[in-house]
Amino acid sequence: MNLPRNCTFTEADWHALAACWHPVAFADEVTDKPVARQLLDEQLVVFRTSKGVCVAKDLCLHRGAPLSLGWVQEDELVCAYHGFRYATDGRCTKVPALPGVPIPVKLCLTTFPAVECFGLIWTCLTGEAKHPLPDWPETEDTTYRRLHLPSMEWAASAARAIENFLDVGHFAWIHTGTFGNRELPEVPKYEVVRTPSGLHMEYPYLAANPEHSPLAEKAAIQRWMVYDLTFPFACRLGINYDGGRRYVICEVCAPMSAKKVRIHFTVAMNFDHDKTADEILAWERKVVSEDRPIVEAQRPEELPLDLTEEFHLRCDRMSTAYRQGLVELGLGKPFTA
Ligand code: FES
Ligand SMILES: [Fe+2]
Repeated sequence: MNLPRNCTFTEADWHALAACWHPVAFADEVTDKPVARQLLDEQLVVFRTSKGVCVAKDLCLHRGAPLSLGWVQEDELVCAYHGFRYATDGRCTKVPALPGVPIPVKLCLTTFPAVECFGLIWTCLTGEAKHPLPDWPETEDTTYRRLHLPSMEWAASAARAIENFLDVGHFAWIHTGTFGNRELPEVPKYEVVRTPSGLHMEYPYLAANPEHSPLAEKAAIQRWMVYDLTFPFACRLGINYDGGRRYVICEVCAPMSAKKVRIHFTVAMNFDHDKTADEILAWERKVVSEDRPIVEAQRPEELPLDLTEEFHLRCDRMSTAYRQGLVELGLGKPFTA
């Protein structure tokens, strides 16, 4: 596949990332109207028919109008400009201006695989992913309640954004309005385990628990935090509290371009089902808003994969392992996402 117009990635990085699954939308964002999304500088249209979800290039082959301006009718995508209709496999099925005239076979949209999983719609721009989707059973488990924030566009690279999610050293500094404990800046030694498709790390943390926390019960609360990263940009954080209470956060960063990311933030919990969704999500919104200004301001925007750039200390093991993993995935130095 050719690189997208105005591609912000190096050719090698683009191809390495195009061979991975990335989410383009939350499943509940794609209902009866086509949705426009950008992934790896490619403009995509995501739409739903009775057969499921579809992802295609957001470009009508007739005169280049975005198909996301159109609509879905009888399980086909209709272009808003001259009404050409496209089936879910991309074939043009109707040219209203020329009824009965055969339609060239080449009049066929470029489509991509579309998989609905964990409440997200995922695609892969090479047509066949070289790496697996994450394995997050809680998000499908009916004993867990699943909620999500609206997807967020940040002016940051996907790698900077997910590395921030993996970083345990910033809690005491950035998150003092929520769970960060200013009294506990020390990062105890932890181990990072390489898994077939990512990284695993466990980290105990005595979190601050202010009154506006949905878990309000005492001023500090012990968390056992379990990180499972799936390369390149998906991470599940299982937060275990005593009494078998489990609060799972899945963050998946979709690289819109080398310096822009769409963040999908889902929560699944097996307790406190009486708390309102607003209460839970207001807390998460606050946590995320503590991260955002720093992540958007980090320079360079690119994540330096050469470990001689930036300083890596023992407390940064997870980040170091993450950067090494991206190199193994085929990303170059300097990496631009
Ligand atoms: S541009 Fe789509 S039908 Fe003409
Ligand atoms: Fe954070």
